Amino acid sequence: MKRCTIPRFIALVPVLLGLVGLLTASAAWAAAGYVGTETCLECHDDVGAGMASTVHGRLAEYQYPTDVHGCESCHGPGEDHVENEDPAMIGMPKAAMGEAANDACLVCHQTGVTLDWATGSHAMGDVACVSCHSVHDGTMLVESQEKLCFSCHQDKKASMSLPSHHPVKEGLMACTDCHDVHGDNYAGLMAGETSRELCLGCHTQHRGPFIFEHSPVEEDCMICHDPHGAVADNLLMQNEPFLCLQCHQPHFHTALMSAEGEFDIPGRMWDTETYGDDVSSDAYAGWSNESHSDSFKRSMLTKCSQCHMSVHGTDLPSQSIPGQGRALNR
Ligand code: HEC
Ligand code: HEC
Ligand code: HEC
Ligand code: HEC
Ligand code: HEC
Ligand code: HEC
Ligand code: HEC
Ligand code: HEC
Ligand code: HEC
Ligand code: HEC
Repeated sequence: MKRCTIPRFIALVPVLLGLVGLLTASAAWAAAGYVGTETCLECHDDVGAGMASTVHGRLAEYQYPTDVHGCESCHGPGEDHVENEDPAMIGMPKAAMGEAANDACLVCHQTGVTLDWATGSHAMGDVACVSCHSVHDGTMLVESQEKLCFSCHQDKKASMSLPSHHPVKEGLMACTDCHDVHGDNYAGLMAGETSRELCLGCHTQHRGPFIFEHSPVEEDCMICHDPHGAVADNLLMQNEPFLCLQCHQPHFHTALMSAEGEFDIPGRMWDTETYGDDVSSDAYAGWSNESHSDSFKRSMLTKCSQCHMSVHGTDLPSQSIPGQGRALNR
């Protein structure tokens, strides 16, 4: 036992000494001074050349909030690094550091697009400015916006590949047309006060106000639409008539099957108020004596909007008799 403990303790000494050394070294680094961009360029002229064409390479005096200019405004004081030529002795804002890397940028970027940065989802999610931005080559983004967003939001890549989608992949729109990536957390980094205002900013024809309104449209477009992509046409969450049947009852032939009871009728499609919960073929047989080879297609593939053409609202009264003109069918 004794033989073991002593050498172990002795082995610890150099480690402890090393730790003390490290602590002194980092304390010295923190206190170290600035050397100026000219000195950096003595060894990094290639980086300097790339920098010259970028916004940060051409900042005017007044754009610096402190006396620290040039390279060291982002990398911090470089004296020790220059003396030792040690890459570990210079500040380096890396994506892997997350929010901690952003101090280097937020020294200056307190206003403008990043005004509300601190309370936004990306800040909360520990995302660094440099996860998205490159600063040395003037390209601004580390890769094309589409690839950039998809690299972390892969579920959106999947949605945007569905048959109906906003033309982001096609390059006609960008995620940032709808999202303010630097913004505060209000409703999921949305560019627009509400999703409805956002949508109506481009789809003005549905803005209204209409004499005959459709309440869900007045409330939120996303009750029926998924902005990122859908299997159904027109970015609809579900196909018609199912979409409408979430809130309305079937009528006429739409969603009412006029066959001889060979179909399973999903309960929610059945007018239970009138016919009770019994969806057996007996109850069903009483409803219709019409037999038609296309009946399934006719009932399930007739869109409500074939008759109710103005689902988003209209100024024209419908021509129906008891409906007080509210049936949204022209
Ligand atoms: C005497 C030469 C010399 C000077 C002067 C110099 N560096 Fe370096 N720097 C190096 C060497 C050597 C490396 C490591 C090899 C490499 O990455 O090129 C390095 C690496 C770096 C790195 C990469 C660090 C990392 O983690 O990979 C940064 C950033 C850097 N230097 C910034 C600066 C800045 C800012 C200045 C001016 C304050 C400066 N350097 C001045 C020699 C120098
Ligand atoms: C606006 C902030 C900013 C300024 C100003 C800046 N850098 Fe950088 N630098 C960065 C960031 C961020 C990285 C990390 C790049 C990355 O992760 O892709 C970096 C990386 C580097 C590297 C590592 C090698 C490389 O290209 O990735 C060197 C060397 C370097 N900078 C030197 C300099 C020198 C020299 C200057 C002045 C001419 C300078 N930097 C000015 C932000 C800045
Ligand atoms: C010394 C102050 C300062 C620092 C530090 C700084 N910036 Fe900037 N940056 C500016 C100014 C000034 C502009 C030009 C005005 C504007 O767009 O806000 C700018 C512009 C930009 C732009 C727009 C570039 C373009 O092509 O339009 C991006 C992106 C950017 N900065 C990112 C960063 C990132 C990322 C960091 C940290 C690694 C950083 N900045 C650090 C001052 C700074
Ligand atoms: C999630 C990715 C992402 C992050 C994180 C991010 N940005 Fe951006 N930034 C962008 C995109 C994309 C644009 C281009 C916007 C556009 O094209 O409308 C941009 C644009 C900018 C601009 C130019 C704005 C203008 O209108 O000229 C500045 C400045 C900027 N970012 C600074 C920052 C700073 C500072 C941080 C960190 C505090 C940061 N960004 C974090 C994606 C990001
Ligand atoms: C480096 C990874 C990364 C990149 C790149 C990135 N994001 Fe994010 N994003 C996140 C993280 C992490 C969150 C916070 C996660 C959460 O709260 O669910 C987030 C949150 C969001 C949110 C808000 C989610 C919510 O419910 O509040 C939106 C919108 C968003 N990102 C859009 C974008 C867009 C647009 C781009 C491209 C310009 C982009 N992101 C690029 C990582 C990333
Ligand atoms: C046509 C407008 C529009 C486009 C284009 C768009 N979004 Fe969205 N996005 C929205 C709306 C609206 C929300 C919902 C916000 C809410 O529910 O509060 C949202 C929510 C999100 C969310 C958070 C909630 C969730 O569903 O996970 C993320 C992340 C997101 N979008 C990423 C992206 C990315 C990445 C792109 C580009 C590929 C993109 N969006 C393109 C409108 C859009
Ligand atoms: C920045 C402008 C813009 C915004 C904001 C916007 N859209 Fe679009 N929308 C478009 C464009 C462009 C198209 C494609 C038109 C085309 O293909 O002819 C489109 C197409 C559509 C389509 C038809 C899709 C199809 O498959 O044909 C629907 C539905 C739609 N948008 C709903 C919405 C909803 C809901 C919102 C709000 C969350 C919204 N849009 C926000 C520009 C926008
Ligand atoms: C009650 C469900 C519902 C709501 C809520 C809804 N829509 Fe629609 N939307 C539809 C249906 C059904 C279609 C396809 C039939 C049609 O074109 O009338 C459609 C089609 C569209 C189209 C593509 C065809 C066209 O008219 O240009 C756009 C764009 C659109 N909606 C935008 C919106 C906007 C913007 C809102 C919010 C103000 C909204 N929708 C709310 C059901 C809805
Ligand atoms: C989220 C629930 C919801 C969805 C989904 C929905 N509606 Fe509506 N709809 C309503 C509400 C609520 C009213 C207003 C009822 C009232 O004022 O009595 C309404 C009214 C109507 C009216 C006018 C009836 C009247 O007497 O005022 C018609 C027609 C209509 N919807 C058709 C449709 C069609 C077609 C669809 C599918 C594209 C659909 N609705 C989807 C909730 C919905
Ligand atoms: C063949 C044409 C047609 C189809 C298909 C159709 N409707 Fe109608 N709908 C009408 C007419 C016409 C009226 C007006 C009847 C009236 O005024 O009494 C009406 C009335 C309505 C009303 C108002 C009912 C009330 O009691 O005031 C709603 C809600 C409605 N339809 C929803 C739907 C839904 C949901 C679908 C699809 C499942 C659908 N309609 C399919 C023609 C149709």
